[in-house]
Amino acid sequence: MHTLTTIAAFAAPLIQLAAAHGHVAGVRVNGGSWIQGCDPNWYYQPAGAAPNTPGWKALNQDNGFVSPDAFRTSDIACHKSAKAGETYIDANAGDTLTLYWNTWPDTHKGPIIDYLAPCNGECTSASAGSLSFTKIDQAALISGNNPGTWVTDTLVQNNFTSQFKVPSNLRPGNYVLRHEIIALHAAGSANGAQAYPQCLNLKINSGGSAGLSGGVPGTSLYSATDPGILFNLYGAFTSYPIPGPAVGGPGGDGGSPPPTTTLRPTTTQRPPTSTSSSSVPTGGPGGPGGCTVAKYQQCGGQGYSGCTTCASGSTCQKLNDFYSQCT
Ligand SMILES: *[C@@H]1O[C@H](CO)[C@@H](O)[C@H](O)[C@H]1NC(C)=O
Repeated sequence: MHTLTTIAAFAAPLIQLAAAHGHVAGVRVNGGSWIQGCDPNWYYQPAGAAPNTPGWKALNQDNGFVSPDAFRTSDIACHKSAKAGETYIDANAGDTLTLYWNTWPDTHKGPIIDYLAPCNGECTSASAGSLSFTKIDQAALISGNNPGTWVTDTLVQNNFTSQFKVPSNLRPGNYVLRHEIIALHAAGSANGAQAYPQCLNLKINSGGSAGLSGGVPGTSLYSATDPGILFNLYGAFTSYPIPGPAVGGPGGDGGSPPPTTTLRPTTTQRPPTSTSSSSVPTGGPGGPGGCTVAKYQQCGGQGYSGCTTCASGSTCQKLNDFYSQCT
């Protein structure tokens, strides 16, 4: 009994750390065909093994986050050690993108913010630290407090989706969309906020003539003590100061006002029939028992509960605490 208690006390923080949060699995433009976003499992796959996608690949094998103590590093731009996506989402100014998170826990309440950065060339060869982000839209607290109802609750209700409307006057060109959720459930303590940025390459083929102004590098977006970063979700607040620069949008002075309603839920989507099944980590085909994991897929790591038997010809190798892969 004593032993069990000790193990439980030890295990609790680990479980919290490894709890599945989420990543942007795919995108649809104006409700069109599915475009793969990113899967953290792809980061360690050799060239040619992972699909080429517009989503940037990063060291978020734990489906985890960037902490405030890394807000002064380029990890905050496009997640940890991010590498540029190889392709683009093709879209036009005025289009609406639906961003699909693979899952999202309803405890992880907070703002959803979208930024655009021009690439001045190909986004596929850009580095996260060289991008300058202009905030295009943001949404956060809907009502109440302690903890209240947040735009992340809307995301959960809408099959883990959020919408981003490309400003209708935006000039054609190559841009990185920086889509981000900041989870506030632990933000009442120093270094407790959790930023989940995902960058995606966006090629705007037709549009207006307005460029972006007022962009800042990722390292200038937030500080650990911003009132919207060090924030007690379980207090009696009446408002929430969304962190980061002011909403800018294309055109700068005299430009059209930025869209204000782009994070509205889609009413045509039905909520998922079971959120619990969506939060189960992806295992190998067949699930535990008689299952095998294909080469280059995940076979272990903290928080992973899928299949651990590698397909013949490969063995399970630990790459970091959160990720082992059949190689
Ligand atoms: C919910 O999103 C998933 C992708 O994450 C998609 O396959 C599924 O069709 C969506 N369900 C509905 C009802 O839109």
